Amino acid sequence: MIRADVADRRDMRDALARAEARFGAIHGVIHAAGVAPGGVIQLKTREMAEGVLRPKVAGTLALLELLRERRPDFVLLCSSLASILGVPGQSDYCAANAFQDAVARSRADADGPFILSLNWTRGSRWGWRSTAAGARPPRGPPRRPRRGRRDPVPGGDRGLRSSLHQPFPQLLVSTVALAPRLARHRGPERAPARDRCPRGPVPASAARAGGPLRRAA
Ligand SMILES: NC(=O)c1ccc[n+]([C@@H]2O[C@H](COP(=O)([O-])OP(=O)(O)OC[C@H]3O[C@@H](n4cnc5c(N)ncnc54)[C@H](OP(=O)(O)O)[C@@H]3O)[C@@H](O)[C@H]2O)c1
Repeated sequence: MIRADVADRRDMRDALARAEARFGAIHGVIHAAGVAPGGVIQLKTREMAEGVLRPKVAGTLALLELLRERRPDFVLLCSSLASILGVPGQSDYCAANAFQDAVARSRADADGPFILSLNWTRGSRWGWRSTAAGARPPRGPPRRPRRGRRDPVPGGDRGLRSSLHQPFPQLLVSTVALAPRLARHRGPERAPARDRCPRGPVPASAARAGGPLRRAA
């Protein structure tokens, strides 16, 4: 494992070079670095907000710049539904994820790697370490889900794979029906028809049209 600050170009240049020396060409990159949101907006400082923005804004830009010459098949940005639905008090975190969504969408037609922003639902039971909120990480190794308890994102690994077989630059992952949440958030009259959440899986015709794994085949 190599430790590096994703927002630090020198760190990342070195990390990529070492990864290539060990494994060969880089075919895909998953950018999952993030700082958990926390605190209430009245108590947020500039430093706290910068800490949340740094990996997702400066980090995404640094990574894409360093990958420009390498041209991997895909770059997957681990965004959050927070950028779509909002989270009370977490404007920094919502903005950081919205930035990743915007990067993926704005480069959809550009030459370069397929960039996908995957808006994960909040589901990990041990992922967040929010010191700002005063939460502490659980001690010891991650526990297996208790019997009868569902995985945070059922079929998440399969979903991750299939997300790379489709052409859209942004996908929303939700463990509950998303359309009503979107409607509640936006107000039905403000949701233009073309933005409404499609029901069911991506149509096969759309899936056939693109996606990096198809392009690479
Ligand atoms: N878990 C969820 O429910 C959820 C939901 C929606 C979206 N997401 C997104 O999915 C991603 C992963 O979530 P997670 O739950 O796995 O988070 P996590 O357990 O808190 O891990 C985040 C990792 O990012 C690293 N990191 C933070 N700033 C960095 C930087 N500047 N350079 C390099 N690494 C940095 C942290 O390193 P250190 O260990 O050194 O601090 C940590 O290992 C995040 O981007 C998050 O926004 C997660």
